[in-house]
Amino acid sequence: MKGANNFRLRGRHLSIALLTLTFTTIFLWAWEKNPFVTTLQSAQEQFSFHSSDFLVDSPKGSSSSSFSLKPEEHDEGKHSLSMSSEDIERQNKDSGASALNFTTTFASEKEDSDEDGMSSSKMKACNYAKGIWVTDSRRPLYSGFGCKQWLSEMWACRLTQRTDFSYEGFRWQPENCKMTEFESSQFLKRMQDKTIAFIGDSLGRQQFQSMMCMTTGGEWRLDVEDVGAEYGLVKPRGAIRPDGWAYRFSNTNTTILYYWSASLADLEPLNITDPSADVAMHLDRAPAFMRRFLHRFDVLVLNTGHHWNRGKLRANRWVMYVNGKPVEDRRLAEIGNAKNFTVHSIVRWLDSQLPSHPRLVAFFRTISPRHFRNGDWNSGGSCDVTTPLTQGSEVSQDESSDRVVAAAVKGTRVKLLDITAVSELREEGHISRYSVKATQGGNDCLHWCLPGIPDTWNELLAAQV
Ligand SMILES: *[C@@H]1O[C@H](CO)[C@@H](O)[C@H](O)[C@H]1NC(C)=O
Ligand SMILES: *[C@@H]1O[C@H](CO)[C@@H](O)[C@H](O)[C@H]1NC(C)=O
Ligand SMILES: *[C@@H]1O[C@H](CO)[C@@H](O)[C@H](O)[C@H]1NC(C)=O
Ligand SMILES: *[C@@H]1O[C@H](CO)[C@@H](O)[C@H](O)[C@H]1NC(C)=O
Repeated sequence: MKGANNFRLRGRHLSIALLTLTFTTIFLWAWEKNPFVTTLQSAQEQFSFHSSDFLVDSPKGSSSSSFSLKPEEHDEGKHSLSMSSEDIERQNKDSGASALNFTTTFASEKEDSDEDGMSSSKMKACNYAKGIWVTDSRRPLYSGFGCKQWLSEMWACRLTQRTDFSYEGFRWQPENCKMTEFESSQFLKRMQDKTIAFIGDSLGRQQFQSMMCMTTGGEWRLDVEDVGAEYGLVKPRGAIRPDGWAYRFSNTNTTILYYWSASLADLEPLNITDPSADVAMHLDRAPAFMRRFLHRFDVLVLNTGHHWNRGKLRANRWVMYVNGKPVEDRRLAEIGNAKNFTVHSIVRWLDSQLPSHPRLVAFFRTISPRHFRNGDWNSGGSCDVTTPLTQGSEVSQDESSDRVVAAAVKGTRVKLLDITAVSELREEGHISRYSVKATQGGNDCLHWCLPGIPDTWNELLAAQV
């Protein structure tokens, strides 16, 4: 009894920070030992695959370079767990604990947390994805007319017939995070001698172009060098564009690059000399580009999602492979399962690489929401709303709406860049009927106007590196 009292007394002297660490540690430990199987399953059920989208980002100029099928409907998760994986990640980082080092702390401090009855509700962790959109006269961060050097014309809504631009005037304010204003010269100074890499689909390319505009202030710059050739990013003969781009700021020696990998699975032509041959899509292998250059990256932002559909696979002659062999498991070959399998494989591989790449901070960006109303991309679907924030301006959920990506990074050192619910509120920010493809009768309610919503993704990224 006496011993217990003494213990309790000593326990009180422990700092709150230590207790917080303790709880986090237990939580993480419990999580790893007991994966929330039901959560994962229902997450999968929440993704249905019945609608379609644009594809404008196939650099190979394949048959699908205009419109093609892309069924993947994103659905908002209704689950609410007390902590997001991001919270866990951040607290681990802040407290200096690594995911591999939880057992010692767990063993030595378990009783204290039990005695004090710590609960997750006491922790007000910073979750960048939870907060509110506010108007800000200092937005946008660059000019949609000015950033011609890096901004594709098709995404520069200022260069189209569009006349409403109120969507440009907002800033995301996280609820419990200190977020300093993005300032390009400060950001570049922090990124001195560093390389920021975006790997993913056309939404990743949008984020890359946004980052180029934000860091240059949207001004024409002669001190930014094209270093694509260093990464083999040159336009192949007959292709519409290269597989990616890389630019280096000469002042700070900061490199920003993008590589197109729409599915994040490694693509391997099965017959190099025959362009009509199938392409193996290795679900269990990170893209060769990523494996080759990982040691040169300091910040990596992955994304995928809108390319996971039958039509797209067929059009590109992508054939699913696992273990170097065509997938025969019918269940795995289902699009939703194949995507989940790939996302998990990439995250697991990346997590295994992080210890040997200590300067690398890796993020998986959650899916960018689409807003087709009254139909889909090929059936008159549109997103004509021009009034900002008609669905509200606040995100109050703790968990990411992208259950697949959130589940994949949970318990790993790969961080979640959660932009799904934040962007869900910004229906008016899509290219809408001002798409260059609009002449073909389609509205683009998938890609975003730039400047616009992807700028916020980069502000959230900048705050976390
Ligand atoms: C996703 O894949 C992981 C790893 O393969 C698996 O543990 C999880 O159950 C899958 N989730 C769903 C929703 O299928
Ligand atoms: C694990 O924790 C111990 C004691 O808290 C510490 O000395 C050690 O450096 C940690 N190891 C890692 C890999 O974080
Ligand atoms: C530029 O940064 C890279 C790391 O990304 C470094 O290896 C190289 O030495 C730097 N170059 C100069 C001139 O400082
Ligand atoms: C690859 O394609 C070429 C040209 O169509 C053909 O001649 C060759 O036999 C193919 N190689 C294999 C291994 O199928």
